[in-house]
Amino acid sequence: MSSLKIAVIPGDGIGREVMPEALRALDALNSRHDLGLKLDHFDWACIEHYQRHGDMLPPDWFETLKGYDAILFGAVGWPAAIPDHVSLWGSLLKFRREFDQYINLRPVKLMPGVACPLAGKKPGDIDFLVVRENTEGEYTNMGGRLFGGTQREMVLQESVFTRHGVDRVLHFAFKQAQKRGRKHVTSATKSNGIAISMPYWDERMKDVAAQYPDITWDQYHIDILTARFVLSPERFDVVVASNLFGDILSDLGPACAGTIGIAPSANLNPERNFPSLFEPVHGSAPDIYGRNIANPVGMIWSAVMMLEFLGEIQPSCTTAANELMFAIEKVLQEGPHTPDLGGQASTTDMGKAVADAL
Ligand code: NAI
Ligand code: MG
Repeated sequence: MSSLKIAVIPGDGIGREVMPEALRALDALNSRHDLGLKLDHFDWACIEHYQRHGDMLPPDWFETLKGYDAILFGAVGWPAAIPDHVSLWGSLLKFRREFDQYINLRPVKLMPGVACPLAGKKPGDIDFLVVRENTEGEYTNMGGRLFGGTQREMVLQESVFTRHGVDRVLHFAFKQAQKRGRKHVTSATKSNGIAISMPYWDERMKDVAAQYPDITWDQYHIDILTARFVLSPERFDVVVASNLFGDILSDLGPACAGTIGIAPSANLNPERNFPSLFEPVHGSAPDIYGRNIANPVGMIWSAVMMLEFLGEIQPSCTTAANELMFAIEKVLQEGPHTPDLGGQASTTDMGKAVADAL
């Protein structure tokens, strides 16, 4: 068994409170299953690093991290001291782009023990996956401004859709659907309004879908799709979307399934040319930092996603991922619960309960 190198970056705020709880669970699994995980800790991507060095990451971050199998990331951002665009573009967004993490994956699942904001839904009703393109599309810095400050002022912002970029995210979505029960892919489009790039997206969808005859598929314009997320989330299995649409859907989805404190995500380079990054959906939550009340489940569930991804190259990690998910489900159902779930437990209490359930 070879060792798997994991870079651990807690970052800012509650990232530092929830990370130890994910590590507690990983430590337990590492020794029991002999996973060979080798964890290295980095105090990067945080306000102290910025204040000491004037930057979120050291200049050699790319060389240092590129040989790792995965990055386990807490959260970044301390808006009282550093503007968010500086902290996020200076760390997390560099990882996503320069490590070509072109898939952003967010499971949306209503869990037992979690109150659903949508009326009448029970666990099992909501269980789908949002697959967001994470490197191109609407999020570019191509374009410009002309005649600034005059009556002729104009701005132009380009979207970029490449065949390479679109096809690879669509293929990924279909392959995910093959692994799931319902074998269905839904594409988010807006080809009735965005008259060049979205018809192209649809065209590629049709072409790629034809290569997966075992998977059914459909497509909705993004406006009605958001309504359907709220009104009939049962219908979805895998939802694939461009960078902008996926950004919106991947926040809306977890919100439909309860607290942001439990939502996990993965930023994947599926070819493993570079490390993939696993992080909770939530940020650094300055409003609750320091009180030990943050829900650690989003972070721990992100570690499950990491183990699942590593399991494709080291099968013992798959067993560990399943056990950890089972432990999370047990604690969500039986408690103890942090205040966001209506309980009074601390971050540490809930993390220890997950480790005990293992
Ligand atoms: P946030 O996710 O940090 O917090 C939003 C709300 O949810 C807050 O009221 C917070 O207390 C609550 N919350 C978040 N996580 C929780 C948890 N685990 N348990 C219980 N309650 C939880 O988003 P916000 O306040 O907009 O951003 C704060 C900072 O985090 C900003 O600097 C922002 O840029 C950054 N951020 C970083 C992200 C990342 O590292 N991927 C993602 C989102 C925001
Ligand atoms: Mg977002």
